[in-house]
Amino acid sequence: MASTPQAGIFALGTASHAYLELDIEEGAEGRALVEGVTSLREPRTTMGGVNLVAGFRPELWRAVAPDESPAELEGFNRPIAGANLIMPATQHDAVLWISGSAYDVVFDVARQAIAALRGVARIAEETSSWPYHHDRDLTGFIDGTENPTLIEAPDVAVIPEPSPGAGGSILLLQKWVHDATEWEAQPTARQEAVIGRNKLDSAELEDKPADSHVARTDQDVFGKIFRRNMPYGTVTDHGTMFVGFSSEQRRLVAMLESMAGATDGVRDALTFFATPLTGAFYFIPSIRGLTH
Ligand code: HEM
Repeated sequence: MASTPQAGIFALGTASHAYLELDIEEGAEGRALVEGVTSLREPRTTMGGVNLVAGFRPELWRAVAPDESPAELEGFNRPIAGANLIMPATQHDAVLWISGSAYDVVFDVARQAIAALRGVARIAEETSSWPYHHDRDLTGFIDGTENPTLIEAPDVAVIPEPSPGAGGSILLLQKWVHDATEWEAQPTARQEAVIGRNKLDSAELEDKPADSHVARTDQDVFGKIFRRNMPYGTVTDHGTMFVGFSSEQRRLVAMLESMAGATDGVRDALTFFATPLTGAFYFIPSIRGLTH
């Protein structure tokens, strides 16, 4: 119980999502933001049936709760530059990920949250997401095949006792816009070579290219992460909200560097069809960390 993670991280199957990234209001203190976000969990302001995952810019969290803060965790403070690709750094002070069975309840809870935080924080970035054909992303491929199961996921995503920040998790939130026209112009065999898996059933290609997405993010090389990616956007402007959790920031950073070609000049083939628009790391404290 001491270090129970925020349950929404593992609450699969919800049909509607909102990601709200917040900046602290001028003159407000980090502690007021943490307290404001913590109070969102009280029944007074929380509606039934909706999951709330809340996190903070690592440096802000460290200033407020130094004993509950993982060593060396940093915000996305500098762009990641690779082979003709720059992944932007768009760090904000806090994140709320609200998910539920339908957009109406997500909408109501998100608006309540914003109202409750008025004067302390304002919305810097807002994205709504929804599942596409059960478990596919907007490339049409199944997303999540190599994800750990829900039994394994806490070991992958949650910082273990007795480390500082135990029960917490590290979130990489990165919004990627897809070039749907260019992607859809590729024959299926080319798309499969880009991802490194079959489009129909997600079977891994035996001869997957070295620049395929699954080769560039191979968890046997970089360590395991737990992904909760969702499609986002409108019919004309859409993509993938990458939502990745890990107990170690290094795994996520190393995957990004590999995708960008920062280490060996080999850029992930997927990055020719999808472009990162945002990038931020948040610390997702344990329930106790949030309420201590
Ligand atoms: C446009 C953005 C992205 C899309 C559409 C996308 C899509 C996919 C797809 C279709 C797969 C194969 C099936 C699966 O195992 O889930 C996959 C695998 C994976 N992706 Fe992504 N992804 C994106 C961005 C990222 C980013 C930014 C990271 C890491 C920071 C990442 C990490 C992974 C990992 C770890 C795997 C499994 C690799 C393995 O086989 O071990 N992805 N992704």
